[in-house]
Amino acid sequence: MKPFLFSGIQPSGEIHIGNYLGAIRNWVKLLDEYDPLFCIVDYHALTQPYDRDLLAQRTFDAALVNIAAGLDPERCRLFVQSHVPAHTELAWVFNTVTPMGDLSRMTQFKEKSQRAESESYINAGLFTYPVLQASDILLYKAQAVPVGEDQIQHIELTREIARKFNARYGETFPEPKQIVPKEGARILGLDGKAKMSKSLNNYVGLLEDSKSVWKKLGPAVTDPARVKRTDPGTPEICNIYSLHKSFSPPEDQQHVAEGCRTAGIGCVDCKKILHKNMMGVLEPIQEKAAALRAQPERVEEVLDRGARDCADLAERTMEEVRDRIGLRARR
Ligand code: AMP
Ligand code: TRP
Repeated sequence: MKPFLFSGIQPSGEIHIGNYLGAIRNWVKLLDEYDPLFCIVDYHALTQPYDRDLLAQRTFDAALVNIAAGLDPERCRLFVQSHVPAHTELAWVFNTVTPMGDLSRMTQFKEKSQRAESESYINAGLFTYPVLQASDILLYKAQAVPVGEDQIQHIELTREIARKFNARYGETFPEPKQIVPKEGARILGLDGKAKMSKSLNNYVGLLEDSKSVWKKLGPAVTDPARVKRTDPGTPEICNIYSLHKSFSPPEDQQHVAEGCRTAGIGCVDCKKILHKNMMGVLEPIQEKAAALRAQPERVEEVLDRGARDCADLAERTMEEVRDRIGLRARR
């Protein structure tokens, strides 16, 4: 039997190339090495302001886009977090072994609460978000968690929660490792400042068409030293070059790096090459997405099967947990 792999993505907006490069593309590579479980984490999405009327559709779309981007339903299970209630059940138990101090040190919590428009958005769910995440992973005793760089701290805390539980109740959970890609683990937004993110308007969506992508690449920030076409630049500090590293073949990377250093090409030329290569990756995904869109029942079936299988797996762990913590069994 292969060990379980678990990862999740929030249905909090359009899935973008940061998600693809930091997470999804890596998930696809790992499909055969593990027994993979992928989850659309809708309960996590409630921790930030969201549109109630869009949540169900966004959950479906996230599943569809992930399948289109390569999560072959024949080789993995894909499901919706809220369809397996044991996730929140185990999270409650983990709340009781997780130190408040650890949670208050989480960078994502600090950033999101600083960004919040008012105090009332800083809810307890945002604070205990990583506890639910630990429960997602440990419910299946997953050993590998492929994520982007921003999630490393949460996986470290997941290991800490496993240790705390094991120390108190006996060896129950393995300590999972994160798998972070060498290239693309932290994609910057087109503003060149913040991390590319669904909630900041600095992303390229996986389903955006060629024209719309070009409209975004056009004004995207490059090396500020290249004010005029004749000014040479430093590719290593240019965000467009970092995207070349993820989307372009080595020849193109070399060509644009040299052209930049020698001012042999301008930023617009460089962006055109990126645009072509990026669309070469996005277009096949978009075609698959359109085909799935025409057969929504195929996506529904995948989610249905995923939820059924995962609920069974989850229940096995929950029985063990209830016993370990000393709950009275129902007769
Ligand atoms: P989220 O959209 O926050 O649910 O993230 C889903 C996955 O995408 C996680 O594994 C993140 O680490 C990854 N991810 C999100 N934004 C980025 C980014 N800008 N660069 C690389 N990976 C990212
Ligand atoms: N917190 C992750 C993110 O925002 C999403 C997530 C929830 C997750 N549960 C998970 C990722 C379990 C990996 C494993 O990106």
